[in-house]
Amino acid sequence: MGIALWASDEDLSAARVASLLRERGIDVTLVTPSVAGIDATDLSSWVIAGADLDACDAHLVRALPSPFVVPAPGEDTAAVARRAFEAQERVQLAQAALAAAEARGGRVLNPCASLPFESKPWQLTAFARAGLPIPRTLITAMPLAAERFVAALEAEGREAIVKPLIGGATARRIDAAARARLVLLGPAPVILQERVVGDDVRVTVVDGAVVSAVVIASATLDYRDDPSYASGGARYRPVELPEQARACAIGAATTCAQRISGVDLKRTAQGTYVLLEANAAPQWLDIEEKTGAPISAAVVAALLSTDALVSPPT
Ligand SMILES: Nc1ncnc2c1ncn2[C@@H]1O[C@H](COP(=O)(O)OP(=O)(O)O)[C@@H](O)[C@H]1O
Ligand SMILES: [Mg+2]
Repeated sequence: MGIALWASDEDLSAARVASLLRERGIDVTLVTPSVAGIDATDLSSWVIAGADLDACDAHLVRALPSPFVVPAPGEDTAAVARRAFEAQERVQLAQAALAAAEARGGRVLNPCASLPFESKPWQLTAFARAGLPIPRTLITAMPLAAERFVAALEAEGREAIVKPLIGGATARRIDAAARARLVLLGPAPVILQERVVGDDVRVTVVDGAVVSAVVIASATLDYRDDPSYASGGARYRPVELPEQARACAIGAATTCAQRISGVDLKRTAQGTYVLLEANAAPQWLDIEEKTGAPISAAVVAALLSTDALVSPPT
């Protein structure tokens, strides 16, 4: 029995899983996706980032090679463009290795079927189709459409927030200054949403069961902007989820084919829960250490389980 653990060196949740596996005498092959230039396959055997995957029966995928390229100071544009292609080429080979592992009957967590749901618009569309409770949403690159969305919410006494499709920024309230900047929108779309006022709740779902649900104390719109969270002082309060919230969190994970999922919910003052997103590679170690929820053990059990993988609804 061998397990491949695809993760960056800084991934403490993954490191905890590795040590639990080794305590049980299980071989762990570390795949560090940033290690470039040591990839090969004859379409039967696979080496990715210098790691021999052939003896691995299961894979915990926390990170793949990054598809993003940051230009070095003074680097010419042709070199940046070439590196961007190379980054995509590495992503393709890594994904193919996981598809091959799955096709051989290996357990890949999260499964390849979850990959498209790394896209926020893809997720949100699927959540809407599944009838899950998400905030009113407009994804647009068009200033006039954005302004109308914000004005319609304002007419109901509600606020809007803006967040990027991929990253590079946290969620922001659309205050007067941000609203004035909507005329500059484009060419890339952004996500505009009704602001849901309430507590941030992180639900960790493993194999269709809630393993942890905590309120994250925060004084800012996006809890990651709270200085105490950013400096490692995050505080978590375990919550007992009502059935609506439990079904919502498990439904979000299932919709995205995530057997391990960090689901972000908002809890309103009325006690209803609204779904924001489902993360395929959530960080849970801080929550585990501060609340005692046995998340790493549940992930180990999911990796070692021999139960058949259940396909998500299509
Ligand atoms: N519609 C919203 N209403 C209120 N807060 C939001 C909303 N969308 C995002 N946030 C805040 O910003 C955080 C990050 O947004 P999220 O959708 O989880 O994206 P990501 O974590 O990928 O940046 C949320 O956990 C929440 O605190
Ligand atoms: Mg989030």
